[in-house]
Amino acid sequence: MNEKLHVVNHPLVAHKMTILRDKNTSVKEFREIVSEIGMLMTYEATRDLPLTEKEIETPICKTMAPTILGKKFAVVPILRAGLGLVEGVLRMVPSARVGHIGLYRNEETLEPVKYFCKMPPDVADRDILIVDPMLATGGSAAAAIGFMKEYGCTNIKLMVLLAAPEGIERIHKEHPDVDIYCGAVDQKLNEVGYIVPGLGDAGDRIFGTK
Ligand code: PRP
Ligand code: URA
Repeated sequence: MNEKLHVVNHPLVAHKMTILRDKNTSVKEFREIVSEIGMLMTYEATRDLPLTEKEIETPICKTMAPTILGKKFAVVPILRAGLGLVEGVLRMVPSARVGHIGLYRNEETLEPVKYFCKMPPDVADRDILIVDPMLATGGSAAAAIGFMKEYGCTNIKLMVLLAAPEGIERIHKEHPDVDIYCGAVDQKLNEVGYIVPGLGDAGDRIFGTK
């Protein structure tokens, strides 16, 4: 396994992922669980955040204790479905800025089409966590990473719930510097580019649009 792929194989994530996969899960529950998994996976994706120490006083004595260095961080959802993961990330890193990239897949070519982009002004100085529930062909994520590199970002991670082997391979090939965090690696893509067994169309299931 490529060292840039991190599968968060925690029982809580696996359990919640099964609820997402179930076609009978309601929109409300689906949305809540996406957010919860986002929070749990952020725990892994921020494992290398740098720490410093500060002096505090406990009820017993003064001591030096670890605190996050406060390096600049931004979460970048790929619209629409990536929005479902933002709240969970912000609950773990409340000071993070949020940049948005709007992409949709052309359903015939499966290639991503950009329709929106808005970033914090100092985004080039920030560590970037791109979030999207699905890494299928990898076209959307590869394009989003490319846009962030055009902004000058140099430390970019990608966090997805489900990944297909094809998408992982594409990111490793086009962006070998990017760490991928995923909740599970599924079997394959079907003939129309959906992840198998997958969970269906993540955007439609989060927003109830189908
Ligand atoms: C879905 C998903 C990813 C993309 C993954 O978005 O949220 O962004 O497909 O597929 P890929 O790896 O083959 O590019 P979609 O284009 O359906 O748009 P939506 O989020 O607005 O539903
Ligand atoms: N986008 C989705 O929402 N689901 C898939 O299975 C593939 C791409």
